[in-house]
Amino acid sequence: MLKVGPRLLHSIRFRVLMSKYWIIKSSILEAIMCGIIGYSGPRKTSTVLLEGLRRLEYRGYDSAGIAVGGKSCTDGKLQVVKEVGKISALRAAMPADIDGSWGIGHTRWATHGGVTHANAHPHIDNSGKIAVVHNGIIENHTALKTMLQKKGCVFRTETDSEVIPHLIAQYYKGDLAEAVKAAIQNLEGTYGIACIHLDEPGRIVGARNGSPLIVGVGVGEMFLASDITAMVAYTDKVVYLNDGELVDIDEHSYSIIGKDEQKVERTTNQITWELGSIEKGDYPCHMEKEIFEQPESIARALSGRIDAENATAKLGGLNLDRSRLLNVGRVKIIAAGTSWHAGLVGSYLLEQVARIPAQAELASEIRYRNPVVERDSLWFAVSQSGETADSLFAMREVQRKGATVLGICNVVGSTIARESDGGIYVHSGPEIAVASTKAFTSQLAAFYLFTLLSARMRNMSREEGIHFAGALQSVPGMVAETLKARDHVQRIAKKYCRAKDFLFLGRGILYPIALEGALKLKEISYIHAEGCSAGEMKHGPIALISPEVPSVFLVSDDYLREKTISNIREIKARGGPVIVVGVEGDTETAALADEFIPVPKTDPRFYPFSMVVPLQLFAYFCALELGRDVDQPRNLAKSVTVE
Ligand code: G6P
Repeated sequence: MLKVGPRLLHSIRFRVLMSKYWIIKSSILEAIMCGIIGYSGPRKTSTVLLEGLRRLEYRGYDSAGIAVGGKSCTDGKLQVVKEVGKISALRAAMPADIDGSWGIGHTRWATHGGVTHANAHPHIDNSGKIAVVHNGIIENHTALKTMLQKKGCVFRTETDSEVIPHLIAQYYKGDLAEAVKAAIQNLEGTYGIACIHLDEPGRIVGARNGSPLIVGVGVGEMFLASDITAMVAYTDKVVYLNDGELVDIDEHSYSIIGKDEQKVERTTNQITWELGSIEKGDYPCHMEKEIFEQPESIARALSGRIDAENATAKLGGLNLDRSRLLNVGRVKIIAAGTSWHAGLVGSYLLEQVARIPAQAELASEIRYRNPVVERDSLWFAVSQSGETADSLFAMREVQRKGATVLGICNVVGSTIARESDGGIYVHSGPEIAVASTKAFTSQLAAFYLFTLLSARMRNMSREEGIHFAGALQSVPGMVAETLKARDHVQRIAKKYCRAKDFLFLGRGILYPIALEGALKLKEISYIHAEGCSAGEMKHGPIALISPEVPSVFLVSDDYLREKTISNIREIKARGGPVIVVGVEGDTETAALADEFIPVPKTDPRFYPFSMVVPLQLFAYFCALELGRDVDQPRNLAKSVTVE
């Protein structure tokens, strides 16, 4: 039996400290960021686990596996089935006679290498009775592994996660929760884990530190998962775990143990998502469905939040009183990927309309920059999932320095939503496709609402407020109108999708939309694309222009139109094909361009909503034409819960 006293713990930590570089390096090699599920109840466990994993697949799809306990465990071991590849491969490998009555499952996303059968979860101890699934990184796994090997443990994988079942086995004395509690004391790093033991039928023990974990409460059945989508088919009642908590589950009950080892009482939350909202319906893939849902999802983000009479916005969750709002001297926005692009649009808008200095920064940069938190600054953390590690850790860092951070999140109850000081839910409904579309336009809606509210407290007159609110209310209709360009965009995508490189160009508030158009194309079609400020083009990107490199321009009808047209002429003069997303009726630009995709005329500040739509469709149809896996593009995962 392993005795990990304070001295051993100290020495393990010391070695971690001394060899941090290598440990971090090797952890990155094995970094996993995945979906986990556990089930205890009367249904066929393998079916529930496979179904849950199918819905979690967007979190990672390199390999998958399940471990079950029950009648089919005839050799005194848990039954474990793993497969490299997608859930469909695991389903095909499932033995017909598998008959477990409780179990755990995992879908894996590995950053580099290591996509092997052995490295797929669940991992088991040497007796074969303990199985563990893990999401996160165990930073001190090298030190733990050495120590466990000395105790006689035989390791079969290259993962950091395998130390967990071996550690639990060392502490196990007939009570899984006690063993897990003791084992996690030794872990450094992040984890969301679920564990089972063959000798304790129906029991699942979970623990969380930095990776999401949620209990699903059913009638005579219980679930544990990293995401509510895994359980929404079975229950609409969930309980969110916090970092440092452990949960002990059987088919009838759950109990949460806090950091102080005391039992935690927590009320259940009702989920409002419906099963249909996470199904593809009549669409061939989630991304197309989500693009076409945007008129409704934006309308939901705006719903009940425009105060027409006072020409302002009502945002109930900000938790800021009027004087605090009025005294905001600077807005700082932290986010990653598409959410960062929404933040960039927000920063342009807040400065232009509400006259508040605003900056959007990459979360992965901010955290390590020793950011300055000014007294009168207000921070936003923007994240569809609310779980992105870069954004979460950056948020915690600025909160530590005293910042007030508002979350702009889609997933209700997600970690950023819970740990932020207030915020705005965007209500897009579940976004399943890895490439974000409807969450983006709803994040924009949140920034437009906040801008309206802030501007009306400052420089914006009632008349201007009425105009701005009216334009905002007409966004869902404008997006619906733009979606009619579907077939036109598909034809253009077919014509250009064999190009190896693309430039996306815009100015002012459309510059972030150019960045987003390039990101969408890269993510799902694997075509190299660069988003540039059209003004910056002549300082470098123009060197790339040739008849083989198409440029996609966003042309507004504001004060920057003429300048953007000059940039188009510069490209045309060098033989580059030009696709323009412009304003309907702009015959001059249409004549200049090789292809023209019109959007309805509106207040130019609102073009980000409509102009991003043809870019989403363009990326989608290019990817389709090239035979890509649109919903699950290679190497990506939707929710990146490791740094
Ligand atoms: C991942 C996804 C991107 C997403 C980014 C931020 O990289 O592949 O599509 O934009 O994470 O995600 P978040 O959930 O924080 O908005």
